Amino acid sequence: MPTKIDHIGIAVHSIEEARGFYEALGLHVEEIEEVESEGVRVAMLPLGESRIELLEPTRGDSPIATFLEKRGPGMHHVCFGTADIEGDDTKLRAEGVRVLRPEPTVGAGGSRVQFVHPKDAGGVLVELSEPPASGNGQESGG
Ligand code: CO
Repeated sequence: MPTKIDHIGIAVHSIEEARGFYEALGLHVEEIEEVESEGVRVAMLPLGESRIELLEPTRGDSPIATFLEKRGPGMHHVCFGTADIEGDDTKLRAEGVRVLRPEPTVGAGGSRVQFVHPKDAGGVLVELSEPPASGNGQESGG
């Protein structure tokens, strides 16, 4: 079961342009990582026990590029942190909730992630994320 808001994902055209607002508030970019499989660059800015995740597309067929085309920059998803993503994935399926991936996959920071279809989550794209340190100890393999 999720136990916190891990991060809020925000789609941006450019991390370099978007980060200024957050830095003006006093937040800082902890790390920037490219997730090749998703076609995004990801900047993480710690905010209490949560984070702001800025998502910049690296290619035209990236889901974030599609989002920016349709809706422009703005809030993209909410991520719930969990220590048992397999259990959550199984439970949601059993409840008839549609998830977007056949099984949890490795995302930014080595976390294992799954997404819930917005139509089954009140119009919100919900990400579930289990940090690499918790769970069954399997290596992410990159
Ligand atoms: Co995210």
